[in-house]
Amino acid sequence: MDFFDRLESTRTGSAEQAVLVHIDLPDGAGEDEREEFHHLVTSTGVTPVAEITGQRKRPDPALFIGRGKADEVAEAVRDTGAPVVLFNHELSPAQERSLEQVLRSRVLDRTGLILDIFAQRARTREGRLQVELAQLQHLATRLVRGWTHLERQRGGIGLRGPGETQLETDRRLIKGRIDKVQGRLNKVKKQRAQGRRARQRSETPLISLVGYTNAGKSTLFNRLTKAEVHVADQLFATLDPTLRRVRVPGLGPAILADTVGFIRQLPHQLVDAFSATLEETRDANLLVHITDASSPERADNIAAVEAVLEEIGANEVPVLHVFNKTDRAGREPRIDRDDQGLPACVWISALDGGGMDLLHQALAERMAHSWVNRWIQLPPEAGRLRSRLHDAGEVLDEDYGADGSMLLRVRINAAHFYNLLRGEGLSEDEITLASAPVAGDTTPSYNRNRSHNAG
Ligand code: GTP
Repeated sequence: MDFFDRLESTRTGSAEQAVLVHIDLPDGAGEDEREEFHHLVTSTGVTPVAEITGQRKRPDPALFIGRGKADEVAEAVRDTGAPVVLFNHELSPAQERSLEQVLRSRVLDRTGLILDIFAQRARTREGRLQVELAQLQHLATRLVRGWTHLERQRGGIGLRGPGETQLETDRRLIKGRIDKVQGRLNKVKKQRAQGRRARQRSETPLISLVGYTNAGKSTLFNRLTKAEVHVADQLFATLDPTLRRVRVPGLGPAILADTVGFIRQLPHQLVDAFSATLEETRDANLLVHITDASSPERADNIAAVEAVLEEIGANEVPVLHVFNKTDRAGREPRIDRDDQGLPACVWISALDGGGMDLLHQALAERMAHSWVNRWIQLPPEAGRLRSRLHDAGEVLDEDYGADGSMLLRVRINAAHFYNLLRGEGLSEDEITLASAPVAGDTTPSYNRNRSHNAG
C-alpha cells in the first residue's frame, strides 16, 4: 500500500456498512457517548450493521479491547462482510495496526471518524486545507510508528513490507505535502485576517452562533439571514464559519457567523483544526449559544460546548443563550433575564419562527450594552484619534472646548474604543468630561451647551 492508498484508507471512503465498537470505561459518559457515536457514524453516510459493546477498567495496551472481545468483533466482520470497523475511542497507531491484523478489516478510530466528517463537510478553502493538514498529521504518526511496527511483523510472517526505501519515500512525500498545505493555509489565513481588519475598521458588530451539534444553528442562521445554507438532520452540516451581513431591528447592521457543531471530547489533536474554523467565535462581540431544549441531554450538551469554548479561548466573550425547538419541547417563546435585567436566555423555535421577535429584541439589548455611546473630551493634540473615530464613522456630534479641546459624541464598540484609547496612550479619566450633565449623556436629542466646555 503506498502513501496515497494509505491516506485513502484513513477515510470511511466508499464504505457503506461498518461494525461499531464502543467500550464503557470508568471515566466515560456511558449511554450518551454511545448515542453521539451513532450520530457521528450515520452522519458520514455509513450504516452500522453490528455493534459490539463491553466494559473495561482500562484499555488493553495491545488491542484496546481484550482478546476475547476482538474475536467477537472479528466474527461480526465475517458475518456482515463490513469493510470497516469504527471504534468510538482514540487508538494508538500500534493498536490500530494490531487490530487490523486480528480483525482482517480496516479500522478507523474516533479521530479518523471525525476527520472524515470534517473532510466531507468542509466547504471553504481554509476549512478544507485545515482538515487535510490534520489528516496528514494523523497519518504521519501512523506512518512513522505504525508502519515500521507492521513492517517488522509482516517480515516475521514472511510477507514483504513496504521496505525501508518505500517508507522513506512515503515520509518524504507526506512531509512535502504537509509543508505545501501549511504554506497554502498561511496564505489563506493572511487574506482572511485582512478581511477581519476591514471588518474591525467598519466596526460592524459580530455575532457568532455556537452550539452542540444538531441544536439547530443552521436553521436559525437561515431564518436570521434568509440565506441558503445546507440544513440536514446530520452532524456537522456546517464545518466552516459562514458569515452573513444581517440587520437586527433596533441594532442596525451586524455580521452573523454560523459554526460547526460541537461534540463531547473533541480529540485533542483536532482542537487546532476545529479552532481555526472558529476564529470568528473568539473575535465575536456576542456568542449566541443555541441548545436543543427538547433534548434530555441539554445540560450536558451546554457543558460540552462551554468546555470547548474555554479550550479555544472564547470563554470571555459574552453569551446569550437560545433554547431552541420550543415546539418540540412544549414550551412557549419567552425571554429570561438576569439580575441586572438583561436578556440571558431566549426560548424560540427556529423551525416555525416562534419567538424570533423576542430574539431580535434580546440581541439588540445585549449588543447595545457592549457599545459606548457618550461624549468624550480629547486634548488638542489627539487629532489622530479624532480622525480614527471619524474613519470608523462613529462620531455623532462634535464641538470644541474653550481650551481648544475637542468634544465628540461617539458611538462605538466598547472593546474597539478602549483599544483605540490605549493605542494613543490615553486613559479613561483623561477623556471623561468633568461636567456631569454631559458625560455619559446618550440621548440623541442632546442639546449642545457650551457651558460644559470648561472641562
Ligand atoms: P450541525 O451543523 O450538525 O451542528 O447542526 P445544526 O446545529 O446546524 O442543526 P440544523 O439547523 O441542521 O438542525 C438540526 C435538525 O433539527 C434539523 O432536522 C432541523 O430541521 C431541526 N430543527 C432545527 N430547529 C428546530 C426547531 O425549532 N424545532 C424542531 N422541531 N426542529 C428543529
